[in-house]
Amino acid sequence: MRTGSLALILSVVCLSLLRTSQAAFEDEFAGKVAFISGGTSGIGFATAMRLASMGTKVAIIGRNEERGKAAEAAINGNATVAEHGGRAKFYQCDVTQHIKVKSTIAAVVNDLGGLHYAVNSAGIGGFLGRFDEMPDSLLWGVNDPVMNNLYGVIHCVLEEVRYWRSHNQDAAIVNLSSYNGIRATAYGTMYGASKHGINGVTQSVAIENVENPRIRVNSVCPGLVDTPLTWNQAKWFLRGEQPWQGHYIDSAQDPDWVANRPEWVKELIGQKILSPYEEAEAIIFLLSSRASGITGMIYPVDNGASAK
Ligand SMILES: *[C@@H]1O[C@H](CO)[C@@H](O)[C@H](O)[C@H]1NC(C)=O
Ligand SMILES: *[C@@H]1O[C@H](CO)[C@@H](O)[C@H](O)[C@H]1NC(C)=O
Repeated sequence: MRTGSLALILSVVCLSLLRTSQAAFEDEFAGKVAFISGGTSGIGFATAMRLASMGTKVAIIGRNEERGKAAEAAINGNATVAEHGGRAKFYQCDVTQHIKVKSTIAAVVNDLGGLHYAVNSAGIGGFLGRFDEMPDSLLWGVNDPVMNNLYGVIHCVLEEVRYWRSHNQDAAIVNLSSYNGIRATAYGTMYGASKHGINGVTQSVAIENVENPRIRVNSVCPGLVDTPLTWNQAKWFLRGEQPWQGHYIDSAQDPDWVANRPEWVKELIGQKILSPYEEAEAIIFLLSSRASGITGMIYPVDNGASAK
């Protein structure tokens, strides 16, 4: 039958086009270098794992050496990563220290042979409770989200953009903001301030760098995601502990999170907490050439929460 064979030929053509475009998407990331602050856990780790499975060399940046080494081993031990020639290298760095960010970026460029993408995802939750009841000692300290999240992004973006401008190289940055960067949330003022600030930096830097070189800068705003940041905030609802108090929850199987999870999830749209890999997919899209027309945008990936 003529129509039958035509349909067959067409579907074979369509299928191979689909395969080619999928291969091209993955190829685009092969051999490239990505700097991922906060790449040792949560959304940063999921993004690092996905990029490395497409052959990207990922520099995962974190404060904690033990967690960093474990994340590096998990990525390098993944068969898909090995098959595609990707790899991870951990760099111990506190993004609140500008000088350390500067030297880390120089080390990454030197070790991995360049820099093509940046995902600035290092972040903390900070104090939970009424703003006027926040202890003064938290301002400018290790648990201040403005210091960590906002200055962390500022230090990273500053050095990333300087590197790309001095090399006249086009590039893409994704900063991790939050639902709380576009909507007000009570009892997390400093966190909200840091995430609103990140969106401000994203948009200003984006419009300064639309060409020569073209550095696209976007931010992704996650809703509630199954990550250590969320798990450790849950302690406050369970027994009034701040995220940095008590034991650090680093597993979804931790009894505290297991006890709290149903309460949190029932408040969410569709009773669904997002996976860090769902955030990673959006981040990677924004880094890719498929998003070539997108810059200075604030991109919610929150299962519809901010649409309300
Ligand atoms: C290995 O990488 C693939 C591709 O990113 C991913 O689907 C898989 O979950 C990873 N395996 C582990 C154990 O993380
Ligand atoms: C976000 O990314 C841009 C581009 O790298 C950068 O200029 C900005 O400082 C980053 N940080 C924040 C807080 O948006």
